[in-house]
Amino acid sequence: MKVPFSYLKEQFGNPDHIWKDVRKVVMRGDFTLGKEVGEFEKKFAAAIGTKYAVGVNSGTDALFLSLKALGIGAGDEVITMPNTFIATAGAIAATGAKIVFVDCNDEYVIDVDQIEKKITSRTKAIMPVHYAGHPADMPRIMALAKKYNLEVVEDACQGISSAIDGKIAGSFGAAGGFSLHPLKNINVWSDAGIITTNSEAMFRKLILLRNHGMKNRDEYECFGYNSRLDTVQAAVGLHIIKQLPMITRKKIEHAAIYDKALGAIPQIKVPPRRPGVKYVYHLYILQVEQRDALLKHLNDAGIEAKVHYPIPLHLQNCCKSLGYKLGDFPVAEAQAKKIITLPAHQHLSRKQIDFTIKKIKEFYQK
Ligand SMILES: Cc1ncc(COP(=O)(O)O)c(C=O)c1O
Repeated sequence: MKVPFSYLKEQFGNPDHIWKDVRKVVMRGDFTLGKEVGEFEKKFAAAIGTKYAVGVNSGTDALFLSLKALGIGAGDEVITMPNTFIATAGAIAATGAKIVFVDCNDEYVIDVDQIEKKITSRTKAIMPVHYAGHPADMPRIMALAKKYNLEVVEDACQGISSAIDGKIAGSFGAAGGFSLHPLKNINVWSDAGIITTNSEAMFRKLILLRNHGMKNRDEYECFGYNSRLDTVQAAVGLHIIKQLPMITRKKIEHAAIYDKALGAIPQIKVPPRRPGVKYVYHLYILQVEQRDALLKHLNDAGIEAKVHYPIPLHLQNCCKSLGYKLGDFPVAEAQAKKIITLPAHQHLSRKQIDFTIKKIKEFYQK
C-alpha cells in the first residue's frame, strides 16, 4: 500500500471549479492586485481573527516584509530557533539583522525559559516559529516582549489555525507571516504568502512595501519591493480557504489516532500536548529510536515518511559567520537525530494510517 506524503493529486485531481475562477481573472486581465486579492485578504484576516491581512508573494517575504515594516535592519538582533526551515533565518538575514538562536523544547518550539539570557541592547524582535503546527508559547513570549520593549513577528508559515486558549496563531504579535506554498495546510498553485496584523500603521506600511512603495500610480512613498500576491493565486486561495476547517479537523483526527497507537511504544516519544492548545499538525513529528532504520523500513513499505530537518540551522554552512558550534543547542541537535515525520494529511484513509501504524509496530517487534 502506498502512503504518500503529498496530497496534491487528490486535492487538485478535479480542478474544474477552480479553473472557472482562474479563467475569469485571465479574461479580465486583472493580474496585479486584482479584486480576488482583496477578497482573499478579508477572508484570511477573518480566519485568523485579525483586523488586516496583506497578501505577498511567499511566506519568506511575509516574514521579511514584516521585519522591514518594523524598521529592523543592520545592527539589530532578532531571536529565533535553529530547528526550523531555512526561510525563518533567511528572512532575518535579508534585513541585515543578526540571527540569534535559542534552543527549542520538547514540543519543537522555542524554549521561552532561554530567551531572556539572549536579549541584548541590540535585540529588536523575537520571531517564534509555530513549528509543525505547534504554537509557540505566545502568552509568555508577548509578556517578555513587553518587558524588554521588543517586537514580535510570528512565523506562522506552518501554523495556520493553531491556537492557544482560543486565540489564533498570527494574531498575537505585531505581525504573523503565513506561507501558501503548495505543501502548506492552505495551499495555492505556486508560491504565495500573507501577513496578518491588528495594527493599522503596520498594514499601511506593508501595503506600500509589497508594491514598490507606491502610494498611487505616480507617487512613491518609500523604496519597496515587488512582492504582490498574484491574483490568480488569490482566486485559488478563495477556494482552498473554504476547506480550512475540514483540513484542520482531519489532520487533528489523524494525529490523535497516531498519538494513541504510537504513544504506547516504548521506543517512541510523542511530544507533550499542552492543555488549551490547538495543534494543527502541518507536520506530524515523533521522536523515535533507530530513526534512520525506521525511515528506511517505512519508505521500503511505500510509506513516505520524511525528516524535518536532519541538520539544525546553526550547523549549516550559511550560518557559519554566526559563530555557533556543535553542542550549542543540545535539544535541537538531539532531536535532529531522532525526529521522523509521518504522512498525516487530510486525504489519507484510515486504512493507510493503520498500515503505517502496523509497519512501525512490526519494526520494533523485530
Ligand atoms: C517555518 C517556515 N518558515 C518560512 C517558510 C517560508 O515560506 P515560503 O516557502 O512560502 O517562502 C516556510 C515554508 O516553507 C516554513 O516552513
